[in-house]
Amino acid sequence: GKGIAVFTSGGDSQGMNAAVRSVVRMGIYLGCKVYFIREGYQGMVDGGSNIVEANWSSVSCIIHKGGTIIGSARCKDFREREGRLKAAKNLVENGITNLVVIGGDGSLTGADLFRQEWPSLLDELLKTNQITAEQREKYKFLQIAGLVGSIDNDFCGTDMTIGTDSALHRIIEAIDAIVSTAYSHQRTFIMEVMGRHCGYLALVAALTGEADYVFIPEEPEENWQKTICEKLAQERQAGQRLNIIIVSEGAIDRNGDPITAELVKKVVVDNLHQDTRVTVLGHVQRGGNPSAFDRILGSRMGAEAVMALMEADETTEPCVISLDGNQAVRVPLMECVKQTKAVAQAMADKEWEKAVALRGKS
Ligand code: F6P
Repeated sequence: GKGIAVFTSGGDSQGMNAAVRSVVRMGIYLGCKVYFIREGYQGMVDGGSNIVEANWSSVSCIIHKGGTIIGSARCKDFREREGRLKAAKNLVENGITNLVVIGGDGSLTGADLFRQEWPSLLDELLKTNQITAEQREKYKFLQIAGLVGSIDNDFCGTDMTIGTDSALHRIIEAIDAIVSTAYSHQRTFIMEVMGRHCGYLALVAALTGEADYVFIPEEPEENWQKTICEKLAQERQAGQRLNIIIVSEGAIDRNGDPITAELVKKVVVDNLHQDTRVTVLGHVQRGGNPSAFDRILGSRMGAEAVMALMEADETTEPCVISLDGNQAVRVPLMECVKQTKAVAQAMADKEWEKAVALRGKS
């Protein structure tokens, strides 16, 4: 059977374990040898005990756990060719020519590059006598299937990334908890949520948590100080006992300057003299048990990734398993990476409408 390795890379997210479990079991079911690569790309570069064969029971009892049991890392070494050369050698030595990478856009971009370089990496390993001519021939094709694991939901090509739904559950729980204390003391709370440069978590949290105002990177406002003060004052006059404001960690104004929770607090306190507190949710959002949705999403995507690898031949382009409506489908990795980069570029160029349109298109 084929040699498949699964690894998790970048920031962890809830549901990654479900995906790992599914890859292992689907792979074994189809007669493959399945390996874990521990600690993401770092484990691939370091090799040794970081690359171990998995069996059916090594993924028992993990579907309900947050994080990733095989570890994750943001790896510097893999960004250098030297590191990728070591990684290629370790894969060849273990007979691995199929990779399932579970991670965010950086991790998937890295995978894309690795695959493009694969023939030249093998040539170099052969030239320096690190692999044999037989190995060079036997392992000449590297196949890759990507799964997007990230709480940010910032990857073009999929409706939902693995972990986003669980993070939203965590945020909503926190908002609900804050609401009860805010109500008692007639306070205003500014809550900062994660998402990097993507406002998805903040926007959905604001809608479902009945927030009064939300700041997201995709819609930088002019003169927000005036708008927010008018809105909050009006609500208090109408008898509302509390206010909730959600600030995405990447929120910016029209000049591209950050709008932080502390800054919003200052504006509210200075202008309205409201009793105001800031709550930064931080990594709580990334922890805890995955929701049923993320367990199913990870499981379906993991199984689909293995099927994609099984059906691939040397002409097959690497794919990302994406959720399209209610279907797990394969989309070209390179296109998704390109589009995700185009969104980032549009944001950097302060072309927000273009960024939103590009993101929406995928
Ligand atoms: O990409 C996931 C994420 O949690 C972002 O929302 C956040 O900006 C970042 O990772 C935090 O990174 P770290 O865990 O390295 O502090």
